[in-house]
Amino acid sequence: MDIASRPSEPVENPKVADAAPAPQSPPVIRREDYLAPAWLVPQVSLDFRLGAEATHIVSRLSVTRNPAGNGTATLRLNGDQIAPLAVRVDGREANDWRLDGADLLVELTGEAHEIEIETSVNPAANSQLMGLYASNGMLCTQCEAEGFRRITFFPDRPDVLSTYSVRMSGDKAQFPILLANGNCTASGEGEDGTHWAEWHDPWPKPSYLFALVAGDLVANHATFTTMGGRKVDLNIWVRPGDENRTQHAMESLIASMKWDEETFGREYDLDLFNIVAVSDFNMGAMENKGLNVFSTRYVLADPETATDGDYDAVEGVIGHEYFHNWSGNRVTCRDWFQLSLKEGFTVLRDQLFSAAMGSEAVKRIEDVRVLRIAQFPEDSGPLAHPIRPDSFQEISNFYTATVYNKGAEVIRMMRTMAGPERFRRGTDLYFERHDGEAATCEDFVKAIEDGAGLDLGQFRLWYSQAGTPQVTATLSHEGTTATLALTQTVPATPGQSEKQPMPIPLRVALYDRDAGEHRGEQLVVLDKAADSFTFEGFAKPPVLSINRGFSAPVAIDFPRVDADLVFLAAHDDDPFARYEAMQGLVVQHLVAAVSGRLDDATRAEGRAAIGAAYAAVLAHPALDDLMRGELMILPAETYLAEQLAISDPGAIHAEREALKAWLGTELASELRALHDRALAVAYSRDAAARGARKIKTQALVLIAAGDPAEGARRAFAQYQAADNMTDRQGALMVLASLDAPEREQALADFHRRYAGNALVIDKWFSLQAGALGPRVLEQVKALAGHPDFTMTNPNRVRALYMAAAGNPRAFHAANGEGYRMIGDLIRRLDPINPQTAARFVPALGRWRRIEPVRAAMMREELERIAAMPSLSRDVREQVTKSLG
Ligand code: ARG
Ligand code: ZN
Repeated sequence: MDIASRPSEPVENPKVADAAPAPQSPPVIRREDYLAPAWLVPQVSLDFRLGAEATHIVSRLSVTRNPAGNGTATLRLNGDQIAPLAVRVDGREANDWRLDGADLLVELTGEAHEIEIETSVNPAANSQLMGLYASNGMLCTQCEAEGFRRITFFPDRPDVLSTYSVRMSGDKAQFPILLANGNCTASGEGEDGTHWAEWHDPWPKPSYLFALVAGDLVANHATFTTMGGRKVDLNIWVRPGDENRTQHAMESLIASMKWDEETFGREYDLDLFNIVAVSDFNMGAMENKGLNVFSTRYVLADPETATDGDYDAVEGVIGHEYFHNWSGNRVTCRDWFQLSLKEGFTVLRDQLFSAAMGSEAVKRIEDVRVLRIAQFPEDSGPLAHPIRPDSFQEISNFYTATVYNKGAEVIRMMRTMAGPERFRRGTDLYFERHDGEAATCEDFVKAIEDGAGLDLGQFRLWYSQAGTPQVTATLSHEGTTATLALTQTVPATPGQSEKQPMPIPLRVALYDRDAGEHRGEQLVVLDKAADSFTFEGFAKPPVLSINRGFSAPVAIDFPRVDADLVFLAAHDDDPFARYEAMQGLVVQHLVAAVSGRLDDATRAEGRAAIGAAYAAVLAHPALDDLMRGELMILPAETYLAEQLAISDPGAIHAEREALKAWLGTELASELRALHDRALAVAYSRDAAARGARKIKTQALVLIAAGDPAEGARRAFAQYQAADNMTDRQGALMVLASLDAPEREQALADFHRRYAGNALVIDKWFSLQAGALGPRVLEQVKALAGHPDFTMTNPNRVRALYMAAAGNPRAFHAANGEGYRMIGDLIRRLDPINPQTAARFVPALGRWRRIEPVRAAMMREELERIAAMPSLSRDVREQVTKSLG
């Protein structure tokens, strides 16, 4: 069941109705304009009378003049689509207030006052899923970044920290469980079947960390004793019936708590930690103090319904939100330009955690793949921004791969330069210095600088300059000396035409060709536009292994002969470098192919080298299967497109598919043997069995590319024999792309088998929208009319349309229908859920990098959106910048 798709109701207050219509271009907020708050709110008490259609809120704020503020007598309280039903100052009905746009301004005379405000909201009509909303019969909140102002009037900015006391009351049958931040201090029964609860959070926090949940929930309960001996009650709250799918989330939470103590010295600070899973959620999850709210997909997992990838995602996101308790909550952000302070650091922390829980090598490869597919295109497109942006119109648009994932890479570079021990001294100092504060990225860098003993003067450019640095490398050899010459350029990005060279830490090793070994890895830091480094003692030209472990988030241009890449793919002792050599081999070949630089002979040579490297990967006894599976994955089409100034998505798709088919044919017997071997491994969650499942599906993908009939037969058999979702989904993914009778049969069976399980039905939509094959657009259109499809649930919308937008065959259909479909979606979704609608704009915004015929159609689609009479701030900003 999904929430109603009614647009939010107009507010009744005449002062609001008189307000000027929203301007066409939303105002630009600039980092340099930061001003400390004029008024502070040390204490807040909130009283909620809960109702799905009407929730009444009384908010009491103790406000005091901020000595560091500008001294104004005007208290600005932000609001968004709410009206003040009553305003009282120091217990008296106030007259001295007015509305400025959506904000409430109150004139105050003294140094400290008590402000009381009444508001009312309709959670069931809140389809934006920001503020207080209804999901599946329960009520919950999402306040980051600016959702609190949709509940009550407040200085809704992260540098105003308050202690919260919350009281809520509501129908006991409808809302048997009442949760908020901190600890429950009292509860009881009211009249007419109501009950109430009071919660108190002793830790001062900004409004974006406020949360409330009310509904029919059951908990998986456990306890954790912290290193200081505090016994913490842990609860994972889900809808009745889902509790037996929460064990993995609970184990992940306990592992996170332990790991953060051991690795960063961070201890949990309340007696209670609650996690709630909700089905309607804009993002993955939210770190509200003591009451994390999660999208169900990052909580629920069992072998029947969750893939190995889903298990990993649950572990990673549970860790991420838990780690925010220190990097985000105890130390928060001064303003939203500092978002990467908490997100970049917390992503690094969750990456290190997942690496420690599983395979470090595989985790690194996965993280780099995400960066290259999601972040590199941001950096090279119209929405490029530094990890600490200088301006925005709508902050929701800046929850990006740049702020999160590149942000994590930037902090990882500091860690690489300092080494883990010194880095830890830096983070200790950071937490010690800024505990209880709203800090800046500069505060973080300074703490690492002081604590780790690094000079990060020039390094700060990573915070201010956007764009992926392009590094060229040349290796020359004379006598016994090898010389590595490096250059860097940071490409121009919107608003930043001139760039300065940045410090780029590169882990390098030089291999002795005959010995097959290197003489120790070195860290070279390229901090000039051009520099060179010499290495002694090589009788013959060595083989260069560079940017090992992906030590810097840059693109390296180092053309090399296939033989060297084959050598590194086979010999490099850095697993990431090995993967990189495999990728390099394929990327070089495919880029040459789509650029028309291959004749029959060079094509055959290139394929032979790739075939040999693949054969070695399939057979290599020293590789574990998780790593083998990773090495078998071909570079993504978006990453291939990134290598070209202007690309033809049709040509990239065709060449990549042709190579897949060639590999499938050439290595048919090896792949079948591998598939058979993997099929024989029984289900378990250990690494060997997970590895077997990974290569099983990767082998199937290639087998089907070479011989569709054999692929269909094997995929259908794998589907039918599957006793877990990894095998079942892998088989169905392959079948969904084949024009075989088994396709419809398996899809129908899957839908029947998992009817009513929203997370699995999401997969059913995604698999079809992401499929290869000429009819995929038709199929997506048909699926949009399926009774299980709804525009009000972001998970479902993403399942269908993100998969389609990310499927080059569908999105870049030569007749422009894919662009039209996404454009139509954005226009229809914007009035319902602008935040989610805006997430689809960047796909169309890539037009400058696409061949002219398609580019014109993409642009046209953006113009069609821009011409809409009313657009959200979210979509308006993204579309304007994309056309700009
Ligand atoms: N702080 C959350 C996280 O990364 C993300 C929440 C963002 N939500 C939003 N509506 N913009 O863990
Ligand atoms: Zn986060």
